[in-house]
Amino acid sequence: MTSDRSFPGAYPATRLRRPRQHAWSRRLVAENVLTPADLIWPLFVIPGENRVEDIASMPGVQRRSIDLIVAAAEEAVQLGIPAVALFPATPGDLKTDDAREAFNPENLVCRATRAIRSAKLDLGIILDVALDPYTSHGHDGLMRDGIILNDETNAALIKQSIVQAEAGADILAPSDMMDGRIGAIRAALESAGHSDTMLMSYAAKYASAFYGPFRDAVGSAGRLKGDKRTYQMDSANTAEALREVAFDLAEGADMVMVKPGMPYLDILRRVSETFAVPTFAYQVSGEYAMITAAAGNGWLDGDAAMLESLLAFKRAGASGVLTYFAPKAAKLLASA
Ligand code: PBG
Repeated sequence: MTSDRSFPGAYPATRLRRPRQHAWSRRLVAENVLTPADLIWPLFVIPGENRVEDIASMPGVQRRSIDLIVAAAEEAVQLGIPAVALFPATPGDLKTDDAREAFNPENLVCRATRAIRSAKLDLGIILDVALDPYTSHGHDGLMRDGIILNDETNAALIKQSIVQAEAGADILAPSDMMDGRIGAIRAALESAGHSDTMLMSYAAKYASAFYGPFRDAVGSAGRLKGDKRTYQMDSANTAEALREVAFDLAEGADMVMVKPGMPYLDILRRVSETFAVPTFAYQVSGEYAMITAAAGNGWLDGDAAMLESLLAFKRAGASGVLTYFAPKAAKLLASA
């Protein structure tokens, strides 16, 4: 423990302010650094062509038709962002109790993935595995009598995963929090010949009020009955997060994620220290909305608060961050 460690040096021989005097010396001794290579850009896909839609609760974030998703993917490459994560705003008439649109190889994210693929970019494509963009009730799993069914949902997630891997996704990111889904998906991918498809598990995903704007963005907010507390984690818990991560790694996750981000930096720190595997943080929609709203009101310096919040993830041990600020942050970092 830090408090037991004796640090050499005492004032005045040691003055910790000395290296803080200049921008160059601060840079020289910086323990952590944020670069565009740390960023993953989440994008929302809508039907149509040459269409953009604003999202009221996420000012500055837009839903885009597939042609403009490809343009955003090209922008990501120019900015040095290594990967994008695609989420569909599925039209309401395609949302059903059995979430069958999730297994449609022509659904929005599969078509967008193929479109990006054909542009031959050096860019990773991450697709969420969960049923909430496709269910009539907005839950991540299949539901019977108000109960979210674990094993039946896993069978559906396997079908969704295979369709997404076939479309060309590099990384599948199960965000549903069903038990056993990583192992089930890994086994199915192996036997379908997709042994190179990576799994980034939303391993420690908490039931959170900070997802509100995302649910507006994908159109599940008005539909959602009840909450997600029977499958997403209780925000009171830490030890349980370590068990979730341990299970997912044992089942074949290549990378893990902690979500939300800033309110859960303690979890990120413990996961990254305990397992020493690629660990990502998701700075979620509500975190984006808070910083953006305060900046919009002139209450915060938005750019500075954004970069400080992103560096905090690196300090807590993240390999990278999913953030709606990705293009803005990458531009600022390039000009710094
Ligand atoms: C759905 C999913 C959610 C997010 C990513 N995947 C929402 C939820 O679990 O309700 C949230 C992302 C964000 O808030 O930015 N499985």
